[in-house]
Amino acid sequence: MKKIMLLFLGVLFFREGFSHPLLQNVYARQTVTLNGTWNYIVDPFDTGYFDYRQQPLKDGFFLNRKAVNPGDRFEYDFDRSATMTIPGDWNTQDERLFFYEGTVWFKKDFSYTAKPGKRVFLNFGAVNYTCNVWVNGKEAGSHEGGFTPFSFDVTALLEEGENFVIVRVNNQRRAENVPTLHFDWWNYGGITRDVMLVETPEVFIDDYLVQLPKGMTDVVEGHIRLNSPVAGVSVGLQIPELGIDRQFVTDEQGEVHFRMGARLELWSPASPRLYDVTVSGPEETLYDRIGFRNITTEGKSILLNGQPVFLKGISIHEEAPFRQGRVISREECRILLGWAKELGCNFVRLAHYPHNEHMVRTAEEMGLMVWSEIPVYWTIRFDNPPTLQNASAQLREMMERDKNRCAVVVWSVANETPHSPARDVFLENLARQVRQQDDTRLLSMAMEVSGFSDNTNKVEDYMSRLVDIISFNHYLGWYVGTPQDCKTRQWYIPYDKPFFVSEFGAGALQGYHGDPAQRWTEEYQAELYRNTLEMFDRVDGFAGTSPWILMDFRSPRRQLPYIQDFFNRKGLVSEKGVKKAAFYVLKDFYDTK
Ligand code: GCU
Repeated sequence: MKKIMLLFLGVLFFREGFSHPLLQNVYARQTVTLNGTWNYIVDPFDTGYFDYRQQPLKDGFFLNRKAVNPGDRFEYDFDRSATMTIPGDWNTQDERLFFYEGTVWFKKDFSYTAKPGKRVFLNFGAVNYTCNVWVNGKEAGSHEGGFTPFSFDVTALLEEGENFVIVRVNNQRRAENVPTLHFDWWNYGGITRDVMLVETPEVFIDDYLVQLPKGMTDVVEGHIRLNSPVAGVSVGLQIPELGIDRQFVTDEQGEVHFRMGARLELWSPASPRLYDVTVSGPEETLYDRIGFRNITTEGKSILLNGQPVFLKGISIHEEAPFRQGRVISREECRILLGWAKELGCNFVRLAHYPHNEHMVRTAEEMGLMVWSEIPVYWTIRFDNPPTLQNASAQLREMMERDKNRCAVVVWSVANETPHSPARDVFLENLARQVRQQDDTRLLSMAMEVSGFSDNTNKVEDYMSRLVDIISFNHYLGWYVGTPQDCKTRQWYIPYDKPFFVSEFGAGALQGYHGDPAQRWTEEYQAELYRNTLEMFDRVDGFAGTSPWILMDFRSPRRQLPYIQDFFNRKGLVSEKGVKKAAFYVLKDFYDTK
């Protein structure tokens, strides 16, 4: 054992530099929540980070200094500043910050008692958009990307007893960011998902995969990986209902790979069967609930567990029902997904960025397949290598977090990106990454109609050869043409693959009624839904759709007074939870599928 520990300590020192290892299934670990009331300081000129020459300060706000002598001068004081609830966006917690884009500092005091042989990670479910993190005035790390989890090893930064963490969050839009300068959703800034301390043993399980191999239904395979390449460590996998109770010994990479026969019930929307799975190490036990299913395509069909399935979907933004702001709780997830179930959905497109883990797990429990995507949206800087690195990091973090979530059946790498050679190279890189990281799920992206002639819409895209499903957005009758045009419009989709309409829709103010020709009425929206669904149902290879969108959501791009008032009104449900007429048109259509 001594030899293992010596080897381990040497290796640990080497790996100490990892700024943020992704901790698999963080909610199953020993955690101390830091959710709750945090102090915050609005800092539009980043005074707490840069000096008047725009050089990074050595004694910025992150030191949390206090005036103790009469002559001391500090022009900030966290403890006398306002407070807000974390997790939570700042836009809906302080009306001065409704439109705010810039830096806000956050501080949380906490006490901690060190435990021998434990490591401590500071884990964030997501922070929008960039953040720098300090513990007790010492930098823990930074992260970019507003919708994926990350963590920092803070073991060496903690004090015995009283501690404080300070987070500088900036949500300014920048051309080189992912997403870029403009997008059709509210730029909710802040610490928008759970924050927690995660305690682990010195040698611990930081990652595991338990899934079905592609195309098989009676084999369970995967891996268990330690945080350090230490051989000879005993780890276990138990799935009691499958009679699986196996012990393994890690190899020199600190990993075990397994593959074993199993007679199991497959997960499906009709039967969302999940199994209790335990992954254990010498000093820890991680519990998970894991389902098993296959998702493949064959010609123009999508197959779930070998059977053709029509994806009865709806698109969803991570906008809280009733109160607006970022979704935070499992309860809010259940409300949104409950409306999707009322529609008769078996599928949800979680647009346009990875939603919180609660949403994916709740979808899995409720029997909803999930399309998950990164915000490579519209005019990303495709020619900029740092932008590709950023997109690739967000893609990796999204796929790592949800690798054991059987509900996720589609990884999407883009939405409505304009054609160009640079865009094709950028997306080809992301597509290759998806294939390398996970060959068990489908790859897609939301394309656009690429041409029109002879009353025929054409969908031709360089990426079509790389994706499994030809997905595209099109708003015939809203942005182009009229709802009546759907009655005669033809489609040219020259691929022997399923096609999926990832968006169509129309705006309607809930409660505004009138002639179906009157834009913004519920009747206009319902007519467009009827005509659009009939149109696509005539086209060979129509394998599903996720109309835009379940619920009205805030957007800075929607200014029409009395109708939009900074809401995108294409929801089938208003932000107050009232269903519109088109909700029932889609529901009736899904009832026929
Ligand atoms: C686009 C885009 C959505 C947007 C929608 C709309 O297709 O993908 O993010 O909200 O159209 O214009 O309402």
